[in-house]
Amino acid sequence: MQSKTTQVKSGFGSKLGFILAAAGSAVGLGNIWRFPYLAAKYGGGMFLLVYLIFAVTFGFALMATEIAIGRRTGKSVIQAYSDMNCHFKPLGWLAGAIPVIILPYYCVIGGWVLKYLVIFTTGSGASAAGDGSYFSNFIGHAGSPMLFFAIFILLTAVVVMLGVQKGVEKVSKLMMPVLLILIVGISIYTLTLPGAIDGLIYYVKPDFNQFSIKTVIAAVGQLFYSMSLAMGIMITYGSYMRKEDNIESSVRQIEVFDTLVAFLSGLIIVPAVFVFSGGDENALNAGPSLMFITLPNVFKEMLGGQIVGAVFFLLVVLAAMTSSISLMETVVSIVEERFHWKRIPSCLIVTGISFLIGLLSVFGYSIWSDFTIFHMQFLDFFDYISNNIMMPIVALMTCVLVGFVVKTTFVEDEIEKNARFRVKGLYRVMIKFICPICMLLILFSALFLKL
Ligand code: PFF
Repeated sequence: MQSKTTQVKSGFGSKLGFILAAAGSAVGLGNIWRFPYLAAKYGGGMFLLVYLIFAVTFGFALMATEIAIGRRTGKSVIQAYSDMNCHFKPLGWLAGAIPVIILPYYCVIGGWVLKYLVIFTTGSGASAAGDGSYFSNFIGHAGSPMLFFAIFILLTAVVVMLGVQKGVEKVSKLMMPVLLILIVGISIYTLTLPGAIDGLIYYVKPDFNQFSIKTVIAAVGQLFYSMSLAMGIMITYGSYMRKEDNIESSVRQIEVFDTLVAFLSGLIIVPAVFVFSGGDENALNAGPSLMFITLPNVFKEMLGGQIVGAVFFLLVVLAAMTSSISLMETVVSIVEERFHWKRIPSCLIVTGISFLIGLLSVFGYSIWSDFTIFHMQFLDFFDYISNNIMMPIVALMTCVLVGFVVKTTFVEDEIEKNARFRVKGLYRVMIKFICPICMLLILFSALFLKL
């Protein structure tokens, strides 16, 4: 099937706007609650090194591929895959289904973060929040999580409704620099805490004994999650990118931003937790318990902890919001294209349906907590199926499509529209061989190793 190229639709007004919006998508909860934990668990500096090597090779290849597909086809994710090859339309559907699954539960977690931001800014219950039972109490009653979930998803919807340039781009240009300033500020503060240097050393010093195939799998998995790959987001944002902008350098800058924020999150979290837990490595456990129990506990003990906590949760709200915007934009672009609806009705429908789906995750921790799927609560199940099963399949099949069906020239030609593609040889090897092998490894580990 011959590939089609179409004119780019109206989209980002500048290269910086595109980079900050894509970086906004990439920088999210994954950077803050997953990266520091994995780095600490898998050998500190060793993990950082493996992660960096994968970022500039594997991550670069996959992200450049998605952005080029988006810009070349100018379509939303489903149509983009079927334009490339009609037999790959189901792959477009599978990729498009991922943000539909993720958006609701991501906004539920966004609501939790918003609640903690309110607690810490108003001071009401800031010290109680450090109590282990506070969080389970909060999510154990549906009312408050539902309210904060509704506020978070509505805020996301307002930005998406305003459109790509006036909403997504403008908000990213405002939020991302603020986020960077906040994260640099708090990391400097935590590094000045007495005893923080031991935590810092633990975080960055390579422990070669920890190196194993698991380190590699964990690094690839995290990279893939962190860069918002294989869920149609980068294809959608690519479709809004200006033809005159350079894809290769944009991807590099998005990667630097994403990796820097992940690294700085570790600089905040690892030393802080280390100091206040007396060097207990288990306190760094990833996920909700770190963010909503361990850290509030740390803030409770810390001098000026309420202010630091408020700034920290503002940072997390910004990171989560720019990611949820990208998830919603991807779904809205599909609805607009398929049904030829205008942006506002498309956005309202997507918000309404996502709210209903999100209620499953809210109730899964409260009134329906006895109900599980494969021994998982709704939220965990949605997270597991999308991240561990669907995304690796989409990435694997995208590599097959680009590497062997339409051929890598489909992507290379688009990248070379306005500049020389400097790492073309490496790119081909990545897409045809290394990326598919990594994806198979991730799938295998998700199904059989339970890392
Ligand atoms: N890349 C973002 C993050 O690290 O949080 C956004 C994201 C990734 C959202 C993966 C959801 C997801 F499953």
